[in-house]
Amino acid sequence: MKKNIRKASTTRRIALITGASSGLGYEFAKQLDLESSIDEIWLVARREHRLEALAEELTHQARVLACDVTDPAWQKHLIKILSTENIQIDTLINSAGMGKKGSVEEIGLANNSYMVDLNCKALTEICSICIPYMAENSRILNVSSTASFLPQPRFAVYAATKAYILSYTRALDKELKPRKITVTAVCPNPMETEFFCHTGQPEEISALKKIGLEDVGKVARKALRRSKRKKDISLQSMTSHLIRLISRIFPHPFVLWIEKKIGL
Ligand SMILES: NC(=O)c1ccc[n+]([C@@H]2O[C@H](COP(=O)([O-])OP(=O)(O)OC[C@H]3O[C@@H](n4cnc5c(N)ncnc54)[C@H](OP(=O)(O)O)[C@@H]3O)[C@@H](O)[C@H]2O)c1
Repeated sequence: MKKNIRKASTTRRIALITGASSGLGYEFAKQLDLESSIDEIWLVARREHRLEALAEELTHQARVLACDVTDPAWQKHLIKILSTENIQIDTLINSAGMGKKGSVEEIGLANNSYMVDLNCKALTEICSICIPYMAENSRILNVSSTASFLPQPRFAVYAATKAYILSYTRALDKELKPRKITVTAVCPNPMETEFFCHTGQPEEISALKKIGLEDVGKVARKALRRSKRKKDISLQSMTSHLIRLISRIFPHPFVLWIEKKIGL
């Protein structure tokens, strides 16, 4: 397959995507492959074979960086690559993430802590590592969720990590405005991805949640469009907008009561 390759002497424009081995991250990689403003796509996740297969499918030059993004050794490796190669990060997408369902007690110390490390700490660190290598008109997309709009009993830590991402992303967007860098929080409703294989309760993509199920391709496309338009948030469907509206109009104790009544 023909790959777009630039001479090594010129600055290469990079798209770096975490969580590229499946779901939304994979979809972002496929859609960015249609853009001509970048020279290379860097794919990050733990499952190397998946990333290698995706790299083969892309028309852009792709680089596989197989790792656990919470691993400080990998972060050091990334810092070294960025500081020694002639590159500029055009697009950073933080899609790596996971959520465990159940009460805080059931989920336990290790899993609760890992969710925070992956969804919040690693994402924040990757932004800090990459921002110095971004120029005007670059962009960051951080994947949050509609879960960020409201506290969610039995998804408490996950929803809180996504609220962190939303708040952090919108503030970072304002901070980076003078440098003309856009930072967008992507807030999908449930999507049928491998995400639900890791919640610990796969059957919980319930009939109720299926009503608002979003198409992963549409979520990625809309998010890329919104970031191009320099928006700090992207919601794909009417259901997402409705959830956000409800979270703003009604007091949270009332919404929590409704959540309990309808078994969300
Ligand atoms: N699906 C939904 O209903 C939904 C709704 C709202 C928001 N989201 C958010 O969307 C994002 C993408 O999720 P998805 O739905 O696409 O689920 P997914 O298919 O399970 O994708 C998660 C991705 O994250 C990677 N990942 C997980 N832990 C990692 C780690 N420690 N280091 C590096 N990579 C890691 C996984 O790759 P490896 O396993 O190969 O490492 C995979 O590529 C997540 O942030 C999720 O919270 C999902």
